[in-house]
Amino acid sequence: MRLLLLCLTASLFLTGCRQEIKIDYVAEKTGSFSKAAISGPHPKATEVGLEVLKNGGNAIDAAVAMQFAMAVVYPRAGNIGGGGFLVYRDKDGNTDALDYRERAPAAASRDMYLDEEGDVIPGLSTRGHLAVGVPGTVAGIEAMHKKYGSKPWAELVAPAIKLAQTGYRISQAEVNRLKRYHTDFKAFNTTTPFSDSTMVEGQLLKQLNLAGTLTRIKEKGKAGFYQGKTAELFVEEMKSGGGLITKKDLADYEVSWRTPIRKEYKEYSILSMPPSSSGGVALAQMVEMLEPFPLSDLGFQSTASAQLTVEVMRRAYADRAEYLGDSDYYHVPIDSLLNDDYLAGRMADYRPDSAGSSDFIGAGLATIRESYETTHISIIDAEGNAVSITTTLNGNFGSKVMVDGAGFFLNNEMDDFSAKPGVPNMFGLVGKEANAIHPGKRMLSSMTPTIVEKDGEIFMVLGAPGGSTIITAVLQTFLNVVEYGMPLADAVNAPRFHHQWLPDVIVHEKAALGNGVKEELIEMGYTLREVNSMAVIKALQRLPDGTLVAAADERNADDDVAGY
Ligand code: DON
Repeated sequence: MRLLLLCLTASLFLTGCRQEIKIDYVAEKTGSFSKAAISGPHPKATEVGLEVLKNGGNAIDAAVAMQFAMAVVYPRAGNIGGGGFLVYRDKDGNTDALDYRERAPAAASRDMYLDEEGDVIPGLSTRGHLAVGVPGTVAGIEAMHKKYGSKPWAELVAPAIKLAQTGYRISQAEVNRLKRYHTDFKAFNTTTPFSDSTMVEGQLLKQLNLAGTLTRIKEKGKAGFYQGKTAELFVEEMKSGGGLITKKDLADYEVSWRTPIRKEYKEYSILSMPPSSSGGVALAQMVEMLEPFPLSDLGFQSTASAQLTVEVMRRAYADRAEYLGDSDYYHVPIDSLLNDDYLAGRMADYRPDSAGSSDFIGAGLATIRESYETTHISIIDAEGNAVSITTTLNGNFGSKVMVDGAGFFLNNEMDDFSAKPGVPNMFGLVGKEANAIHPGKRMLSSMTPTIVEKDGEIFMVLGAPGGSTIITAVLQTFLNVVEYGMPLADAVNAPRFHHQWLPDVIVHEKAALGNGVKEELIEMGYTLREVNSMAVIKALQRLPDGTLVAAADERNADDDVAGY
């Protein structure tokens, strides 16, 4: 049962219903469907997407409606004040990718986060108005709808407006989160967002300012966001907090259509996001480096397979730090990075019995936190069109700045640039010239929306939030299915590990690398660090008989699948 409507409203007024039922949705973690399927971050959003699909909308229509709905019911990450990526494969096998990542404002400059001594000023790129990149989400949603959508725009924006106007019931987890961030909200806003400190589980949360903004978007498309009243409120907000984004920055924002990265791995063909994400290139490099090795014989998280996979991760992330950035502003040598001989050469110094070295100098902090701020949706519609979208504000509630009067949070995506060569960002990632700040440039991402084909047919759709751990989570989920023979839900929920070159540490979930593997890796010279949780995968798989299996990650309570 998707909806627990019976006790819902009643639980607030009557005594007969069980006390704990206070919200009108439950998250379904797995499902098998014959026609269409969705895996996404919140039941209220998958409900919206399912409705669109059932009414004859295609996967892009569902994605349009879901993204706006997520901006309402998932305010910590669902967004109109952030940016994202689409990887698309239509029913005939044609593919496309859309880059609607945020861009640095025109007044941004390479050293804008450094003090007079040339040191990074802590917090400047992560909190408050200066951390904000020019949002791309609304332009991106409009662009994908114009090119591939089939249903009227207004019809797809409408469910989100309704959710914002009439409200939705918030879970205890959401209440806790809003309370946890209350001090930050207060610090960075003139009108404190979600200021009701008496908020309780099951309370109806209405967002009338957000409804107003969504209505302008419904009526005017992207002009309802980048121009007119929303733009005015946006720029006022920037001025009030010392931000850089101007009306011209907003009016000038453009998306970029790109060609997906395609990489063959055995009988599979992997499609993923090119720069300004590092995800597609790094994923392609990793599978190419792994392909010569008998991974399935080595076994899931055996010492041998884990050590090999870590060394492959180390090499891909080292290249990420050196070569990857927005290809519109910096020459990213994609062909060379994906060249088979180059990647075979990268593994020439691989030793299966000892730890590799990242020449670790200085302190790259692995600040990989328990965080689910980004969102991903995977959709396959009844015709076989597939959508893989990852979209983000970066941190929880982004910069913590909400546009006063417009009701949406702004990203803190500027932190994904390399503020200074070699200085780690909030995910511990380092970068250099390729990812230096430049006006108009997009900051490098790890988001990895991915589609996998097998024998020319759609095979998997997957992606995740999780900062730098996204790429390695997508890799491991794919390998869990194709090498270790796991059913999709097991593949998604299996414990994971991660290495990102610097810091030279294997981070892992508690249950990962068990049965003495951790100890053997330490003996080989590795440093290990346990973390609470990593990326949160949302995946679909098409079985040979055409059944669509959907899996949502147990790591996030709200992750939900739907279909029919
Ligand atoms: O684009 C990126 O790589 C990051 N801004 C993503 C942030 C993220 O996934 C945070 N959530 N867990």
